[in-house]
Amino acid sequence: MTDSEQSETYGAMAVVRRIAALREAVAAWKRAGERVGVVPTMGALHAGHMALVEAARRDCDRVVTTIFVNPKQFNRPDDLDSYPRDEATDAARLVEAGVDLLFAPPVEEVYPEGFQTKVSVPLLSDCLCGLTRPGHMDGVATVVAKLFLMTAAERAYFGEKDFQQLLVVRRMARDLDIPVEVVPVPTVRDADGLALSSRNALLSAGQRARAPVIHRTLTAMAGKLADGAAVAEILAWGRGELNAGGVEKFDYLDLRAEDSLEELADLDRPARLFVAGWMGAVRLIDNVAVAAKA
Ligand code: PAF
Repeated sequence: MTDSEQSETYGAMAVVRRIAALREAVAAWKRAGERVGVVPTMGALHAGHMALVEAARRDCDRVVTTIFVNPKQFNRPDDLDSYPRDEATDAARLVEAGVDLLFAPPVEEVYPEGFQTKVSVPLLSDCLCGLTRPGHMDGVATVVAKLFLMTAAERAYFGEKDFQQLLVVRRMARDLDIPVEVVPVPTVRDADGLALSSRNALLSAGQRARAPVIHRTLTAMAGKLADGAAVAEILAWGRGELNAGGVEKFDYLDLRAEDSLEELADLDRPARLFVAGWMGAVRLIDNVAVAAKA
């Protein structure tokens, strides 16, 4: 490791590229009795990510954000190549938000030659987004396990927008006895209800104007289910509303148990509605909680 790698900073924030330097910084904080939180990201930060950072800032003495575009969670090379990367802009936002340390390792630091281990959480992974993106959730579980072990953070912050990812990561940490609390942060939405996503920028003006139909419909479906309407009927109704609102096709529109992601034909336990739908070439996902019937 070179001296310049050890001493890189961006404003008041340390920028670290090597695991050894990250561990040293975190160990010093822990020796001083400070609580460390981590916000794992792939960069291209938007207000949804910043809500995770704010939650970590509120709870923890020290906040680490990681930026690592993880090749193992992409199943299409073109998708990986075209993933937006702008570390300087991201770093400026993180400094402003009071992040103490940015960990932005090169690929070979995370996956050195000969790397072959895979972390898999099959029951939670092989449904919803796992069906259309084979290997994606294993890639997420593998890199997040490594980031947890590298950062040794006591708390880690994940958005509820990627609810399946949140459950996979929480199960993985429990199963591997990694002493980290996985903290869920509610989905950040635009004023019209559209969940924030870097993909929203790909929508045409017309698609963007129609996209709030997704949250509007999910919320209406959740209300009808809580009032006792039949699940199959509401799923069919929701599909029709979304189609009419410009969602041309679906990867899924399901009611699933909030803890196990088991598909539900009846609302007999805490549940969520999950959707992945396409507006033109743009795939949008969202989910909402459904209150169990009284
Ligand atoms: O949600 C993301 O940005 C990624 O899946 C994560 C959790 C940083 C792992 O690469």
